[in-house]
Amino acid sequence: MKLSGVKGMNDVLPAEVGRWQEMEALAREVFALYGYREIRTPVVEPAALFARGVGEATDIVNKEMYVFEDKGDDRLALRPEGTAGTVRAFIEHGAYVDGPQKWFYLGAMFRRERPQRGRYRQFHQIGCEAFGVAEPLLDAEQIALLADYLGRLGVRTTLKLNSVGDGECRPAYLADLRSYLDGHRAALCADCRDRIDRNPLRVLDCKVASCQPVLEAAPRLLDRLCAGCRDHLAAVRAGLDALGVEHRLEPRLVRGLDYYVRTAFEFTSDALGAQAAVAGGGRYDRLVETLGGPPTPGIGFALGAERLALILEAMGRPVPPRGPAVFFVLADPAGATEALRLAGALRRAGVACDLDARAGKLKTQFRQAERAGARFALVLGAAEVASGEGKLKDLATRAETPVRLDELAARLGGPG
Ligand code: HAM
Repeated sequence: MKLSGVKGMNDVLPAEVGRWQEMEALAREVFALYGYREIRTPVVEPAALFARGVGEATDIVNKEMYVFEDKGDDRLALRPEGTAGTVRAFIEHGAYVDGPQKWFYLGAMFRRERPQRGRYRQFHQIGCEAFGVAEPLLDAEQIALLADYLGRLGVRTTLKLNSVGDGECRPAYLADLRSYLDGHRAALCADCRDRIDRNPLRVLDCKVASCQPVLEAAPRLLDRLCAGCRDHLAAVRAGLDALGVEHRLEPRLVRGLDYYVRTAFEFTSDALGAQAAVAGGGRYDRLVETLGGPPTPGIGFALGAERLALILEAMGRPVPPRGPAVFFVLADPAGATEALRLAGALRRAGVACDLDARAGKLKTQFRQAERAGARFALVLGAAEVASGEGKLKDLATRAETPVRLDELAARLGGPG
């Protein structure tokens, strides 16, 4: 029987993994600059956490979640996103007693969506969550962090910003939106009609062309915000302006998760096609309370790592090399013994090196050196052992430079 991976779940092979390591290392570096610390939560959580946190009426919970029964009758779910689990951990460990907290995570998420370019069933998010601060200054700082991160990778995106209101202004708006949409039912697609009662805000997000005239003329939450939400949005915008972060107000931006209040945002890229959002997030000031903790405001975002990798690839950004500094090519038994000894010394000095222990034809060994992604190759045989010298061959330029074998570690360990 031929076994293959699960549909929509991908392998990242060693040849591509350098890109992932670069994204992850930069996230750790940049997030730390802004005071975020890493949290790791389980991939499996009680299914009820997401029903309560993300929302029973969302597609994520309703249609896309991988749910299974554990032996003890517990209903468990593969996490479809990172926020709910992070909030659960925040509450469970009483982290709220320590004042405001800034946390980040990297990890696999699971949604049973129809796979296409940029949309997978297992995908990876790089996310930040900040707890305990309701002030718009934090929104601006966190959005600027994400812009900073993407900017360092040279990625060009559009930042779309909106306010989705709060408990004071949203209910009246939703009632009006529902009755408006209900009045135009006949002009809407089946999905939209289905959502009018369940999740009317999501109707605004429909991309079907024939729905657009109705949606464009729909009442806008932006025009109906209460004073608190209006001021908050204005302050976030002023903060972004002060930080030089360009953004576009997008009155129809809604998010696929129910926990948001006030600030909602997405970073989109033209390089992605239909799945244009590379990152999305917003405020969730009621979520900690909804999940059983004390009232604690929060804001966060998550970035799709596969989508970011696609953008970097489309930009032609090279995968950072991860191969050994030098690959020893074994010309004879004396060379093989010397290679093993030298490799030990180099590795102790922290210099990555490798060799093909089969010690076959030189040509084959050079080919292996290239496949391994080595920077240099060095032929070792009785002659090199006798003279204590060899030639470092740069595999990219083919240039050869003489080197003393006992100086190899110093030479390759240095900068560059
Ligand atoms: P989300 O918008 O559902 O938000 O997902 C965030 C990002 O994850 C998306 O912008 C996209 O890049 C990526 N993503 C989502 N689904 C898929 C998929 N099926 N395949 C590939 N990439 C995908 C959240 O998950 C929120 N938890 C974000 C957040 C954190 N809000 C507050 N804190």
